[in-house]
Amino acid sequence: MKENKYDDPSFFEAYGNMTRSRKGLDGAGEWHALKQLLPNFKGKRVLDLGCGYGWHCRYAAENGAVSVVGIDLSTKMLEKAQSFTTDHRIHYQNTAIEDLEFSPERFDVVLSSLAIHYLADFDGLVKKIYQLLSLRGVFVFSVEHPVFTAYGSQDWIYDSKGNKTHWPVDNYFNEGKRKAIFLGQEVIKYHRTLDTYVNGLLSHGFTITGFVEPSPEEHMLAQDPDWKEELRRPMMLIISSTKNVKA
Ligand SMILES: C[S@@+](CC[C@H](N)C(=O)[O-])C[C@H]1O[C@@H](n2cnc3c(N)ncnc32)[C@H](O)[C@@H]1O
Repeated sequence: MKENKYDDPSFFEAYGNMTRSRKGLDGAGEWHALKQLLPNFKGKRVLDLGCGYGWHCRYAAENGAVSVVGIDLSTKMLEKAQSFTTDHRIHYQNTAIEDLEFSPERFDVVLSSLAIHYLADFDGLVKKIYQLLSLRGVFVFSVEHPVFTAYGSQDWIYDSKGNKTHWPVDNYFNEGKRKAIFLGQEVIKYHRTLDTYVNGLLSHGFTITGFVEPSPEEHMLAQDPDWKEELRRPMMLIISSTKNVKA
């Protein structure tokens, strides 16, 4: 089931107030880590899954991509993305990731930032991405970390004084749908184990080239003490991989 939460006006507005929405890539806590795992975009044909405002599409184009396709389920997010650019190399398409249809080997790089945890079928997605990538093509994605998604509620456990005592992790091996509270609203996300992410890639012919659980950099901790909370549990997982000939 595809849930188009980002077209809900109040959710869209709340998302627009997030630091990452106001400041772009530099306002995203994991950008320093994701950037390290991105390939050289020069001359590459790029696909961004769940592109949102299109920050990563523009980054790819600014760094030499010959064409960039950004797809998203939300028309509001795509309108916003379009408003930021007139670059003729970037094309936005209102399509669900589940309904991806492109010719084989149509892209050299597939990237996705924080969208794949909205998808029920990771295995099916990896199979499709393998087909639409050229040989040695790169697939890089970030998702919410399995430790973050396992319990479901996506909130701390508090003591009677309102202090955050710990992050709950439970039902880790029970993969699937979770009803999370995000930006004050119930949002459907999908929990998967690390095993599923890693072996999903390996079993479909990808070689894993990078694996990061991003944490705040020193200067972020110095600038804003709120980042310290992000040292208590992993929130995101970033994996880069390369398409190889299947054994
Ligand atoms: C957290 S936002 C991330 C946006 C962008 N990738 C970024 O990092 O700035 C998640 C995006 O995924 C999109 N999305 C969620 N489920 C989707 C689906 N099934 N197909 C396509 N896009 C989807 C949402 O509409 C939203 O724009």
